[in-house]
Amino acid sequence: MAEAFLIGENMTGGYGKSGPDILHDCTVAVEPGEIAVIVGPNGAGKSTAMKAVFGMLSLRRGAVRLDGEDITALSPQERVRKGMGFVPQNQNIFASMSVEENLEMGAFIREDDIGETMEQVYDLFPILRDKRRQAAGELSGGQRQQVAVGRALMTKPKVLMLDEPTAGVSPIVMDELFDRIIEIARTGLPVLMVEQNARQALAIADKGYVLVQGANAHTGTGKELLADPDVRRSFLGG
Ligand SMILES: Nc1ncnc2c1ncn2[C@@H]1O[C@H](COP(=O)(O)OP(=O)(O)OP(=O)(O)O)[C@@H](O)[C@H]1O
Ligand SMILES: [Mg+2]
Repeated sequence: MAEAFLIGENMTGGYGKSGPDILHDCTVAVEPGEIAVIVGPNGAGKSTAMKAVFGMLSLRRGAVRLDGEDITALSPQERVRKGMGFVPQNQNIFASMSVEENLEMGAFIREDDIGETMEQVYDLFPILRDKRRQAAGELSGGQRQQVAVGRALMTKPKVLMLDEPTAGVSPIVMDELFDRIIEIARTGLPVLMVEQNARQALAIADKGYVLVQGANAHTGTGKELLADPDVRRSFLGG
């Protein structure tokens, strides 16, 4: 089988130098044009897996490869330059800065004209164009998540990683965000995301991972996982 576009393979590690291992031989990957979704109970290590792929903790074992290149030793900043866009679960916007300043901050590594990318973000999330001069912290939860995703897109990433993009939003706003994420993936940009709305996320997932206690418990297409009696009973409420 061909190598995945982005893969965190057999990742084992935890926080700090002497902290216990949180991830145990954990593997997550995403292909071009694909949406890969990580689900699992609270504390399962979903965010830790994302942080490991982004280089925010050092692995005791395993590797991260992007487009065939081993990037395991690179810092998060270096991974951004290699094409990773990451939206963390918490504190993913600058609340006191305007929407437009947030997008400009997202493009900090670029030296070329960012105007076109900003227009693309505003086309994707039109409400942000209307509110571009407003402090991002004054926006609704769903709009703030749009700012966070837009900010990550400003680097023109080769892969987009989202940790709970629909946290704390209403079901309608969640559906809208998922539609936009599908739109992003259809442009060819691979999306690796963690979601607590497991059923809805697996419904749009090309590939899904169920993590339990830092390890892969189930892997399959979104459809397969939704149909798996074990997954249904344990994670989807029957
Ligand atoms: N910065 C940190 N330092 C030490 N331990 C941490 C840190 N962040 C998370 N942990 C621990 O790692 C484990 C996994 O946490 P993690 O945040 O990855 O889970 P999660 O699956 O993302 O949970 P949630 O669904 O609540 O977001 C937990 O036991 C948590 O206490
Ligand atoms: Mg988390």
